[in-house]
Amino acid sequence: MPPTVRPAGRDDLLGVLRVLQRDPGLAPGSVTDRQTATWDRMMVADGLTVYVACAGAVVVGVVSLQTMPNLGYDCRPTAFLEAMVVAEPHRRRGVGRRLVARVLADAAEAGCHKVQLLTHKRHATDGAHDFYRALGFTAEAEGFRLYLP
Ligand SMILES: CC(C)(COP(=O)(O)OP(=O)(O)OC[C@H]1O[C@@H](n2cnc3c(N)ncnc32)[C@H](O)[C@@H]1OP(=O)(O)O)[C@@H](O)C(=O)NCCC(=O)NCCS
Repeated sequence: MPPTVRPAGRDDLLGVLRVLQRDPGLAPGSVTDRQTATWDRMMVADGLTVYVACAGAVVVGVVSLQTMPNLGYDCRPTAFLEAMVVAEPHRRRGVGRRLVARVLADAAEAGCHKVQLLTHKRHATDGAHDFYRALGFTAEAEGFRLYLP
């Protein structure tokens, strides 16, 4: 059965952390108050949707979509894709493709003009850049970053 993709709910925090932290055995007691408070904020943040791909009850993939209001492009919002991870045993089975397809459909529904993402240069050789190219993204922009102390 292919995984189902849906917006995450409050109860998905542990499953999402297990994927993001690459730790399928992460214990419920390991979830910090800070993570819970952040997740609670994320669940109500304007324009932010976290999507989960689930195999049965298990979260096997995650991605976040943020839509940002924009005065350019005839006031069409811009979509940002972040925190895209599929659990290692489930890779190369179309889970990431399904997650991004849902993001693109919802971004289009929200009237977005473009979908953007940053991916670190180290991912040039591990398949992530190939993944985005396979899904239709083009590396036409240069990304800049500044890490704050
Ligand atoms: C990148 C990632 C999200 C891809 O998820 P996935 O579920 O394995 O991707 P899919 O199975 O949907 O792949 C779709 C297509 O992308 C391409 N692709 C995916 N992984 C690839 C890889 N490792 N090497 C080359 N092409 C790849 C292929 O064209 C693939 O289609 P195919 O399997 O029919 O050939 C996953 O490998 C991952 O979580 N990596 C670690 C975290 C990460 O790098 N995230 C992105 C950081 S910006």
